[in-house]
Amino acid sequence: MLRITLVNTKGGCGKTTIATSLASYFASTGFRTTLMDYDPQGSSRRWLALRDDDLPAIKSIDAVRQKSGLTRSWQIYAGFDTEVLVVDTPAGISGSRMIELLRQTDVVLVPVMQSVIDMQATADFIEQLMRVGKVSSQKKRMGLIANRIRPEARSYEMLEQFLEGHNLPVVARIHDSQNYVNAMEQGQGIHEYHSESIAKDHEQWSPLIKWLNAGSPKAIPIQKPKAVSPLSLGSAVSY
Ligand SMILES: Nc1ncnc2c1ncn2[C@@H]1O[C@H](COP(=O)(O)OP(=O)(O)OP(=O)(O)O)[C@@H](O)[C@H]1O
Ligand SMILES: [Mg+2]
Repeated sequence: MLRITLVNTKGGCGKTTIATSLASYFASTGFRTTLMDYDPQGSSRRWLALRDDDLPAIKSIDAVRQKSGLTRSWQIYAGFDTEVLVVDTPAGISGSRMIELLRQTDVVLVPVMQSVIDMQATADFIEQLMRVGKVSSQKKRMGLIANRIRPEARSYEMLEQFLEGHNLPVVARIHDSQNYVNAMEQGQGIHEYHSESIAKDHEQWSPLIKWLNAGSPKAIPIQKPKAVSPLSLGSAVSY
């Protein structure tokens, strides 16, 4: 199983947007996929509820509300049939929850937005992550994702300096695009959503998929944008 966690204590940096699009990417390329939600607000679970039955199935796990009669480890067990587990986390996560998260993941993805406040908060978070990483004493693959990039804005140069200043690989550069907002509203990932301007959004995911591939037990295909209408999308995967 490949386990990927989206995490940053800074709110609103794109954890849910990237987690849901990643889950849909894996599901639509034939992986049995589970999306686990650590956020009490349940944004990922709400996105799943919006998802059309015709789209590839994604299993949902609520890691927040403790089910009676279940141990914690059973509650967050993705099941033997899951090939890819994507974990969405809330802002402000820390302490024992953070340690639990790091123990049960192979890949940590940290989205960061192009604003001074976001970059400062993320720098603090990366420091914290390294400390907790040592506590759990496990080597994880960690990558930064620059999200909602606006190259025309003044803060872009600062973002590039920030990205260069850290010892973590920058595994994707995702631009600010209304397509993400629209796709989320329909329970779709960015690769399932169709609009005239979608090709460049899709291209920006290739470096991330290639990077994930290097640590994946099974090859992850690079999906080409499909020139089909939303109505003829995907076949359902059930398991
Ligand atoms: N690349 C993008 N382009 C445009 N809008 C985006 C992009 N990524 C995220 N957004 C929007 O930014 C807002 C915050 O994104 P999201 O909910 O994914 O962040 P989050 O880190 O999960 O937030 P929280 O910490 O509250 O859980 C949402 O309205 C989302 O639609
Ligand atoms: Mg979220």
